[in-house]
Amino acid sequence: MKVAVIGAGLMGSGIAQTFAQAGYEVKNIDTFKDALAKADENVKKLFEKKVAKGKLTEAQKDEILGRLTYSPRMEDIKGAAVIIEAVPEKIELKKSVFAEIDKLADPEAVIVSNTSGLSISEIAAATNRPNKVMGAHFFYPAPVMKLLELIRGIATDDETYNTMKKMAQKIGKTTVDAPEFPGFIVNRILVPMQNEAAFMVMEGCEPKDVDNAMKLGCNFPMGPLELTDFVGVDIMLGTMKGLYKGFSDSKYRPCPLLENMVKAGYLGKKAGQGFYRYDKDGSIIG
Ligand code: 3HC
Repeated sequence: MKVAVIGAGLMGSGIAQTFAQAGYEVKNIDTFKDALAKADENVKKLFEKKVAKGKLTEAQKDEILGRLTYSPRMEDIKGAAVIIEAVPEKIELKKSVFAEIDKLADPEAVIVSNTSGLSISEIAAATNRPNKVMGAHFFYPAPVMKLLELIRGIATDDETYNTMKKMAQKIGKTTVDAPEFPGFIVNRILVPMQNEAAFMVMEGCEPKDVDNAMKLGCNFPMGPLELTDFVGVDIMLGTMKGLYKGFSDSKYRPCPLLENMVKAGYLGKKAGQGFYRYDKDGSIIG
């Protein structure tokens, strides 16, 4: 079965890798050729590390990489039974991508958005087949995180939902049904906590103190600020803004420090600077 993943950023490339590891033929599509080259390089590096650690043989690595190919052409979604969109969280962009998918995808294709909180019904309405559209929210890093939130739009039919649910099991994910409201389940709880941690830094707390408190006091694998850097300060702020706008509730007011950080290009680990500074290998240096 062929799967197409649209978007080769951190999420899209990780989702493509996840499906390739599970045995699917995957086409990772992005109109930005630089994004494709970077995704290819990152995935290869990751697999080389796994071979070096003895977690994968050279032959297994080549087999998985052989199933994962890249393309800058949207036409390459043709023949895909499942199409997963993972482009940036901008509703107009997602709608235009879905309108294009609608023109090119096979009639029976299941079309999935990896949105972290936008309306599936609104995205689906950009197509002439809203019954074939649903949400599946992956977590970063997609190949590692076990959860997949499944979200039905108003028109999503049972066949579409069941196909995606079965596929989720095949790629080793545990699913939960999430309501079609901003942030679904995880981000509605997690992101306000990250936002609150940013407010504490704005009030003068050291990021290390906030993170150590949550790691040692709550057994979190990463502190909320380290996690914000890991996912991307811009991504986290975008989700917070989605909650604020979607619920029209001041309790989701984004922290102004996050706005300043994004304006300054302090986007987290990928930029070498966020709440912490990073070396070129991604280790914290300050
Ligand atoms: N991409 C792919 N795989 C990765 C990865 C990445 N960016 N980072 C780590 N991994 C893999 C490694 O290859 C390794 O696999 P292996 O065991 O087969 O060799 C495995 O993860 C463990 O990595 P490490 O040993 O290097 O590091 P840790 O044991 O410290 O684990 C972690 C790293 C899994 C990232 C862990 O710190 C963790 O669980 N952090 C919290 C992550 C989290 O909360 N994610 C949710 C973010 S919110 C979100 O995604 C919402 C969205 O809308 C933005």
